[in-house]
Amino acid sequence: MSARQTLVLRVNDTEHEVRAALHDTLLTVLRDQLQLTGAKRGCNHGVCGACTVLVDGRPVRACLTLAHTCRSAAITTIEGARGIADRLREAFEQAGAVQCGFCSSGMVLTASALLAARPAASVEEIRAGLSGNLCRCTGYRKIVDAVRAVAQGAER
Ligand code: FES
Ligand code: FES
Repeated sequence: MSARQTLVLRVNDTEHEVRAALHDTLLTVLRDQLQLTGAKRGCNHGVCGACTVLVDGRPVRACLTLAHTCRSAAITTIEGARGIADRLREAFEQAGAVQCGFCSSGMVLTASALLAARPAASVEEIRAGLSGNLCRCTGYRKIVDAVRAVAQGAER
């Protein structure tokens, strides 16, 4: 086991000094040291997307990302996501797209990055964009409907 080293991470526009071993993942540091538990530990193998956070605006799997590789990056978790993410939260609620909620932060952050790049994304683009995020509850349709509702708002 490697020794822990001090590391400064910029999370949600605030710098945090943490102690992390070289093998510690970003998910472990966010959840266990910073108590940012919106990113969920699902499969812990890069499959489900429940741990998704934004690193320099791009969705990444925090369970596969080493904390030390994020030294100079801007990390955004669901707790600090604003703008499109706020619109998505509202749309998810209105569409009934949150059931147990385990996938929701990953879905919202993945969708927010998609809509930042493609504000009026089509249903097909949304389905493709969210295809790496798994949901055990909703059957996906309500999630796609919610993201599409925000995209349609951008078309007006
Ligand atoms: S917990 Fe990271 S992809 Fe499933
Ligand atoms: S709402 Fe339960 S996993 Fe998606």
